[in-house]
Amino acid sequence: MVAQIIDGKAFAARLRERVGEQAAKFEGLAGRKAGLAVVLVGEDPASQVYVRSKHKATVAANMESFEHRLPAETTEADLLALVDQLNADQTVDGILVQLPLPAHLDEKAVIASISPDKDVDGFHVTNAGRLAVGQSGFVPCTPMGCMMLLADRLGDLSGLEAVVIGRSNIVGKPMAQLLLDANATVTIAHSRTKDLAGVVKRADIVVAAVGRAEMVKAEWLKEGATVIDVGINRLPPEPGADKGRLVGDVDYAGAQSVAAAITPVPGGVGPMTIAVLLRNTLIAAYRNEGLDLPDGAL
Ligand code: GUN
Repeated sequence: MVAQIIDGKAFAARLRERVGEQAAKFEGLAGRKAGLAVVLVGEDPASQVYVRSKHKATVAANMESFEHRLPAETTEADLLALVDQLNADQTVDGILVQLPLPAHLDEKAVIASISPDKDVDGFHVTNAGRLAVGQSGFVPCTPMGCMMLLADRLGDLSGLEAVVIGRSNIVGKPMAQLLLDANATVTIAHSRTKDLAGVVKRADIVVAAVGRAEMVKAEWLKEGATVIDVGINRLPPEPGADKGRLVGDVDYAGAQSVAAAITPVPGGVGPMTIAVLLRNTLIAAYRNEGLDLPDGAL
């Protein structure tokens, strides 16, 4: 078997295109653009790159981007005051506070201060609770993107065995909830799981989100599995190179002869995150204006 490559980059581009079309319609209906506020505290280089690409993608999708860059020594009181101001601002539909925050700031308190109806990251406990009990809310962007790729590839997931490796609040746990909602039989594996290879062997769907380079071996996979690789890990540089290669959590080359389909790294799950963020922001905008987003539009 030679695995099909799941082209997340192309899928994400199509999603951004649909969001952009609906965002233009929103502007016609509401008399204003949908707005996303992004808050970056400090100068973490990776965060600066993410924030810049979010800004570009937001503008390209016919939405307003409000960027707030604060110095690394910003106090929690000042950050909470900014979030309050954004909560109250009618032109801001979605709020994203870029993580990680500098160590002196309490991420939990900051996330808790965001209005759940503007929490387009889906990190607020209210949105985690809504997802857990099957109410509509905002779902974290990365697992939602994985789900879209799976649904596109496999259609109905009913009764399939899904193994999620990783139990973070941002990926593993919401991923498991989404798979469960889609009637898959779900196992969450993690660093204490005994016989991980044996657990993975049962899976029709493997979602790897552990952040360890090429940890999931090709021999662990069931023939014909669909593999979603959330990991983005940089290998040590080869002699003479200044940067190492980016790899996922799965042995991609090996998996190609066992899996039916697999997401590459880069170009798989990664591009989906921003596309879903824009989607969530547009959904927030329609809700905030009391307007109906056409069914199936996104
Ligand atoms: N840092 C890395 N990815 C993300 C994300 O999706 N949302 C936020 N808020 N911070 C991040």
